Amino acid sequence: MDSRVNSWSPSIEFGIPEIDDQHRELFELAASFRGHGDEIRVMKALAILCDYAKIHLREEEELLTRIGYPDIEAHRQAHSQFRSMLRHLLQDARSLTLDQVADRVEALINGWFYNHIVRVDKLYIPMVIAYKAYQARPRETRPLGRAKPVLPATDPTPE
Ligand SMILES: [Fe+2]
Repeated sequence: MDSRVNSWSPSIEFGIPEIDDQHRELFELAASFRGHGDEIRVMKALAILCDYAKIHLREEEELLTRIGYPDIEAHRQAHSQFRSMLRHLLQDARSLTLDQVADRVEALINGWFYNHIVRVDKLYIPMVIAYKAYQARPRETRPLGRAKPVLPATDPTPE
């Protein structure tokens, strides 16, 4: 895993507000840990961050199900890994210093989650865009026999 710490920036937006807004919100929540507050506030913030992350992952998986994304199982597995890391952080938090909690949050959101967005989430984006374009068409103009758009080929075989 790439352990570099990356901040949110508009360059990691996909142009899909329901996804982009949740991604940005997670980075904003994570940024609130550094140098702030007492133990009770940090534990509350951690619970909010974990709940929000779980909601985001669930909604993203629901979206991938809706569009018939073919690699959904691999994506779900990546999310499971993230959920497990969040669970461990919640379990460990009481025995960590506030700075250590901030470090762990940073590693999760600015490290793991950032890389997930730019390397893994980006793979489903063309299909979401195609799905939204399809849904935006009047019903009578949609191609027959195609309930869902297909994923554009990313690696065309040369002829
Ligand atoms: Fe994802």
